[in-house]
Order: sequence, then C-alpha cells, then structure tokens
Amino acid sequence: MSDRKRLEELRLLLTEHSHLYYVLDDPQISDGEYDRLFQELLKIEEAHPDWVTSDSPSQRIGGAALDKFEQVQHRLPMLSLENAFDDRDLHSFEDRLLRFLLTDVRPEYMTEPKLDGLAVELVYEYGLLVQGSTRGDGSVGEDISAQLRTVTSIPLRLRKTDIPRLEVRGEVFMDRTGLTKLNLQRAEDGEPLFANPRNAAAGSLRQLDPKITAKRPLRFYVYGIAEPADTDCKTQQELLQFLGSLGLPVNDLLSFCPDIKTVIKRFAELSTLRHDLAYEIDGMVVKVNDFALQGRLGAKARAPRWAIACKFPAIQATTKIVKVDFQVGRTGAVTPVAILDPVDVGGVMVSRASLHNGDEILRKDLRTGDTVLIQRAGDVIPEIVKAVLEKRDKDAVPIIIPKNCPVCTHLLVKPVGEAVTRCVNPHCPAQRLRSMVHFCSKAGLDIEGLGKKSVEQLFDLQLIKDLPDIFKLQKADLEVLDGWGKKSADNALSGIEAAKKPVLSHFLAALGIRYVGEVTAGLLENTFLSLERLLTVTREELLEVDGLGEQAAGSIADYFSDPLVREMMNAFHDACVQPQVLVQREENLLLTGEVLLFTGSLKKLSRTEAKKLVKDHGGQIASGITKKLTCLVVGEKPGSKLKKAQEKGIRILTEDEFVVMLS
Ligand code: IVH
Repeated sequence: MSDRKRLEELRLLLTEHSHLYYVLDDPQISDGEYDRLFQELLKIEEAHPDWVTSDSPSQRIGGAALDKFEQVQHRLPMLSLENAFDDRDLHSFEDRLLRFLLTDVRPEYMTEPKLDGLAVELVYEYGLLVQGSTRGDGSVGEDISAQLRTVTSIPLRLRKTDIPRLEVRGEVFMDRTGLTKLNLQRAEDGEPLFANPRNAAAGSLRQLDPKITAKRPLRFYVYGIAEPADTDCKTQQELLQFLGSLGLPVNDLLSFCPDIKTVIKRFAELSTLRHDLAYEIDGMVVKVNDFALQGRLGAKARAPRWAIACKFPAIQATTKIVKVDFQVGRTGAVTPVAILDPVDVGGVMVSRASLHNGDEILRKDLRTGDTVLIQRAGDVIPEIVKAVLEKRDKDAVPIIIPKNCPVCTHLLVKPVGEAVTRCVNPHCPAQRLRSMVHFCSKAGLDIEGLGKKSVEQLFDLQLIKDLPDIFKLQKADLEVLDGWGKKSADNALSGIEAAKKPVLSHFLAALGIRYVGEVTAGLLENTFLSLERLLTVTREELLEVDGLGEQAAGSIADYFSDPLVREMMNAFHDACVQPQVLVQREENLLLTGEVLLFTGSLKKLSRTEAKKLVKDHGGQIASGITKKLTCLVVGEKPGSKLKKAQEKGIRILTEDEFVVMLS
C-alpha cells in the first residue's frame, strides 16, 4: 500500500477509535495498539510534511506556541443564563413565558446538567473544525483554536460534511479525577492548585502554548448551536440528537420534560445524582424545547427568555467576623467588608465577604466578633447568610456605618429609598483612584503595564489626576519611578498607545458610568454608533433601546450631559483617544429609518412581540405622535392617536397589513 493510502487509512482508524474512546466511552482497541497506529501516522507525516492537514489526529498534540490570543467576533452573541434556585422560581419562569407569549398553552422542556467549566464556540465549515474561541464578553472572545484541537473529545471533522457553516457551542471542563491528578502534580511541582474545575479548564485553555493544554485532561460536551435554523431540527431534543450523530459528545443526563412539574422532579433527581458524577455540575439548565417558541421568546440583553439555569444550593461553612473595613468604590458607594477568620468553603479559602450596605447589616443583625454562616454559590463572591446567635459573645460589637468618608472625611449621604451610603464629594481621591484602576483593568481598557499597583503609585504621585492624564504620560515620568525602569516604562507606554483606539463599547464600559456594564455598553455602541452621537443622546432616545431600563437610561443621559464629562471627552480627544465602532448597523433592513407606533389592541401579536419585530427589522418605536413618526399601526379601538396621525398625513397600517409587510 502506498504511504498516501496508508495515511488516509490511519487517520480514519485513529479518528474512529478516538471517538469510541473519548466520546462514546467504549474503547475497542488497547491503548498500546492505538499508540502504535498513532506513531505510524506520525512517521508518515514526518516524511511528508506537506500531507499534514488540520484534521489529522496528529494535530491533537498541539502546534507552535502563540504570542498572544487573537480576538474573535462571534457571529451571534454567546448569551448567559438567568438563575432560578427553587420550584417557585421555576414556576415564575413558566409564568413569564406564558405572559410573554400571550398564551395558556404550556411549553415542553429539555433539561441538561449545567456543567461547571468554560463556554466555547467551535466553528465547523463543511464539517471541518476551522476555529474555536472562548465566550469572552459574549460578543468578542479569544481565538483558542490551537488549544481546543488538543481536546480529544472535540472532533476535528464532523461525520457530515455538507453543512457550509455550523457554530457549535458547549462547555470544556475537567472531571474530578483529572483535576485531582493535575493538582497532585502541581503540588509536587510547587505550583498553585486550581480551586475548582472552572478555573482549571480556563487556566488550561488560556495557555499560549497548546502543548501545555494537550497535557491537561480536558473534556467537552456540546449543548447547542448559535443558529438552530442552520439545521432542519425543530426542537432542542432533536438538535442534541443530531449533534451527537455528527460525532460531537452529548451529555447523557439530558431529559425531555413534558411540563414544568417534571422539570422540578428532574431537578430534585439531579440534586442527588450530582454527587456520584465523574464531573462537577452546579445546576440544571432548563430550555423551552420548541425552536419556534424559542424564536418568539427571543432574548433580553444578557440572557435568552427561553432558558434558565436552576442552581443547586450553595456550599456553606461557619467562621468569625474579625473586623469590618469600609471601602469607597468608584461611584462613591461605601461598602462594608467583613474580614473573616480564613475558612475553606467547598475548596476555596475565604477570608473576606461583602456586607453590601448598612440596611443589610441591620437586617441580619451582624456584629464584629460574631460567628457567622457563610456561603459560596458557584464562583459568586461569598456572602454571609446569618449570625449564629447561640454563639454570640457578650462583647460582640454592633457594626456602624461611619458618618464621614473614611478616605476624604466628607460627610456621607444615604439618599431616601436607597440602601447605599455614598461619598458625594466628586473630588474624593478614593473614587477617582478606583475609577482609574477600573479604566485600566481587564474590565476596562485592559492597558498592559498599568495594573492596580502601578495606577495607585501614579495617582499617589499625582502623575495622573483624571482619566485623560493616562494618555499624556511620558517615558521620562515613568522610567525614574520606584520599581520601574526603561523596560516597564516602554511596556506601559505601548499599552497606553494601543488603548488609544479602543472599541467604543469597551471604552464606555471602562468609563464606569453607573448601570453601564459590557452588555449595556454593547447596546449603546450598536445603536448610536459613535461617541459624538452619545454626547447628545436624550433619556427618551435611550428608553427606546431594547434592553435599556429607566435607571440605566437616566444615568447615561445625566452622565453625558454633565459639563465635567464633556470637558473630559474633549481632553480624551486632544490626547488622540478615538473609540472605534466594531459592528455597523445593517442599513438595508425593511424598517431602517422608519419610526413606528402602535395604537389600539392588537389581536395577532403581543405589544412586546410587535415592538421586537420592528427592532429586528431595523426600525424604531416612537413614544407618541411625534415629528419623527413615519407609520402608525392600528389595532382595534384605536382612540385619538389615529385621528392625530391622519391629520398629520402619517402612513397608517392595520395590524394585518403590518404582519403581511414583514413576512
Ligand atoms: S445554554 C443561550 N446549556 O452556563 C444559552 N449553558 O450561564 C446559553 N452551561 O455560559 C447557554 N452547561 O457556560 C447552556 N447545558 C448547558 C450548559 C450551559 C453549562 C454554562 C455555559 C454558559 C453558562 C450560562
């Protein structure tokens, strides 16, 4: 047999046996036999390097190390899930669905274990794995293709090769045995241990050298795809079956549930089962089974309406409050933080817990010196559940929120109706420092060389007083500082240079505007498309953006109309900071440029569905009969708006005409 032919044969054999071993857990040849075939393949490929293809089993051992991870824009966002904790939450999940769908026909569900690992996207083109990425912020992740190729249960080629593009999503994780073994090895090598499977999976995938990833016992289960319409599947159940038939590993604890009662029963079963599993799960994901219904339900900013994560109860432990510190955050909020006697909570050492605010302390009647019950749910920051009153010492001291800012001594205020106590001194050094640390941090512009310590140092030395000052730093200022030098100065300056053209949404999130995290920042970028436009945005315009609530709209409008903020934006501009827009709005949608309003009662669509349709087709919703209005859609009993619109000569459509137009 020619080398070429034998190579093809070996690839097929190895792929098949690796699927049997890693995906179906049903090995049919010995490890030794597999190794022999693998060595034979390597030998042929060594002799003919130009025959190596990306789907060859040899690619599993990891190629050359990377300099850095490239960014990957997900074609469709990778959403997160809202949480439920008990039966009541699951019932309200269903109630919300029914209300949104305006129906009393209850949906069917699929439930899946919620794996505790890292979400990834795998792109297959005509069956070939062409890219793998992390979830990142949901819109942009990191290219970890080389690392993911080393995960043995991820097929490099699917069994069906006629699908042009399939964006598969699932979880990479480490099972208990894998994690224990890895940690034993790390302890021997004097390296820090991984506290949980999620950290272990993330730490292993984010290795620039894929050969290191290849040595880590990572596993993968698929749980969905970006766009179900890319297949003929009508339900989640069908889809998972289909993905399995393509050679992708599907978890075997899936369960079809005809109603929410069965979902609740299944949750109880899984809560017991979880302890016997080879890997950790932190809950159960519940999904509406029917894709047509999923489509109608759509998503909010962060999470789909058609799914929810039902989390297992948290892991708990008891310890003592040693003292309480008060921290001033970047919005001036003063947060009491309990310093605890360090205690192991489900494998993680906990020594601090946020007490949130004064009301929370009063409600829980917590005192310094108290023995307290603390809990950690998943990777959520630990919280104090309650004081163990039977163990309260006589000399336990009530915790009192100070009257003055612990940093600038300005009188603190607690606005009526708010739980938070704030320092409202705009010049409070703690606030300015915290905003600068945030601005430079990973959650902000991720400026290399300007970590927390460096920012604190530059701030203390008054080299940076306000955010734009960061961009005015000079080499001569930096290289003479304690602990710096030419190299770190150059490093920081190139980090700063790179940050001068940030993605607009990252820039907005970095500013630390209240209620504007990365998701809301993404909405602002996609809707308003430039920083200049945002400087003139009104509260009303913001309220029309799907996913923005009252509080966020008010906070954003106030922020951009503040003269000090405008001054700061000018300073950014003078320092050549130019935020870039990543995603351009599609200009040729059916309703682009149209501003619609609904009046009267609609029969076919709920109001929310109707508004969503308008937005999905590129249109906007008006707040009333305004100058901008281009079309009024009338249902039954329309009222005075119809007359007003007729007088203004605005286009009028019936609900039926509207539906026909969009179909
Ligand atoms: S579905 C749009 N299914 O949970 C649906 N997620 O908080 C989003 N996860 O980022 C995900 N097991 O990392 C889904 N069977 C499962 C899952 C699962 C684990 C993780 C995933 C996601 C997070 C959502």
